[in-house]
Amino acid sequence: MTDYNSLVKSATDAKKNALPKYSNFYVGAAVITDSGKVYTGCNIESSSYSLTVCAERTAIFKAISEGERNFKALAIVGDTEDFISPCGACRQVINDLCGEIDIVMANSKGEYIVKKTPELLPFAFGDKDLK
Ligand code: THU
Repeated sequence: MTDYNSLVKSATDAKKNALPKYSNFYVGAAVITDSGKVYTGCNIESSSYSLTVCAERTAIFKAISEGERNFKALAIVGDTEDFISPCGACRQVINDLCGEIDIVMANSKGEYIVKKTPELLPFAFGDKDLK
């Protein structure tokens, strides 16, 4: 199995920049491309709560906006005892923009579990449905 300790460390570092003004729930994420480049993200909250963006989407949108299209894995970490798991909206975005990748879900100790995108979003709506 691939060692994702370094990717989890990048996500943990990114968590420090989170701006969870209302929830106080800090999340960091890091996505790695096929060529090995890492883009990080954190959650950023808005006073109009629904405009909040999750750490996963921040990382993915940063990478996409830099021209990246091929991804290998995405790590997520929070200050949680349990392995953190991406929200439903992020699962859709991961499926649409990253495809079938390793989703690395860590806890606050840096331990992690890995699942593939379709395991977290079975029967996904996607590109195929818009043909
Ligand atoms: N959040 C993430 O950034 N990623 C997740 O996987 C779960 C939730 C953020 C959104 C919001 O800023 C805060 O955590 C509480 O929901």
